[in-house]
Amino acid sequence: MIYYFSGTGNSLYVARHLADLLGEKLSPMTLPYSTDDEVVGLVFPVYGWGIPNVVDAFVRKHLGSCSYLYAVMTCGDDMGYTDKVLEKAMGRKLDAAFSVLMPDVYVCLPGFDVDSKEECKEKFEQEEISVKEIAECVKERKKVRQLKRGPFPWTKTYILRPLFNRFLLTDKYFHVDASRCISCGRCQKNCPVGNILIVDNVPQWQSHCAGCLACYHACPYHAINFGNQTQKKGQYNLLQVKNEVM
Ligand SMILES: Cc1cc2nc3c(=O)[nH]c(=O)nc-3n(C[C@H](O)[C@H](O)[C@H](O)COP(=O)(O)O)c2cc1C
Repeated sequence: MIYYFSGTGNSLYVARHLADLLGEKLSPMTLPYSTDDEVVGLVFPVYGWGIPNVVDAFVRKHLGSCSYLYAVMTCGDDMGYTDKVLEKAMGRKLDAAFSVLMPDVYVCLPGFDVDSKEECKEKFEQEEISVKEIAECVKERKKVRQLKRGPFPWTKTYILRPLFNRFLLTDKYFHVDASRCISCGRCQKNCPVGNILIVDNVPQWQSHCAGCLACYHACPYHAINFGNQTQKKGQYNLLQVKNEVM
């Protein structure tokens, strides 16, 4: 079984690809865990050089006794020691761990924006190769780590991540430009954790946000913003980008 979490679709895309190659089933981390899985894969995005809160909650409750456990972490750039953070939350070691570069969806800080079309194309092409290699490793139950930790991984994961989680993984900075919002409800439908209610025709965030930015990226009129940093930033739509570049 492959358990996944995905905000904007990249990790689901990778999870589906891997499941096809391995003939495995897929299940979201928001549903219950089947305890008799012998081989378990976890596919999810890297957030702030660590694991999303949904993944943390899932692995703390489950994953007792499978015989081969691997993780595939999608990231826009680098993942620091995300695998170590995951292992600490699980209370056990991974048998194998991989990172896969996918289009970057983080836009909330100065200097961060979505990738150019060329960068997306390169990443989708590399994904094809990487996921085939990962599938081979899993079939052979290899004990490997193929990870892009990036520069200063320790500082990123153990100094910057706690600050990132504390100050930036919150929905309190989301706001809606009511003159642009057409009340289409796409933000609500795309939220993987049901954190958005539509009240008086506009979205309201309910304080159990995963921080994935699915609502921001899904809005057809860029009516949703995070603080004052995202007004001029791009939006990511996996299917649209993929059709354009491949
Ligand atoms: C809150 C947040 C934090 C992120 N932090 C990182 C990071 O530390 N390193 C990185 O390379 N990419 C980071 N990203 C980019 C995502 O990991 C990447 O785009 C991922 O493929 C998105 O997966 P998804 O579409 O399945 O949600 C971050 C994205 C978000 C929304």
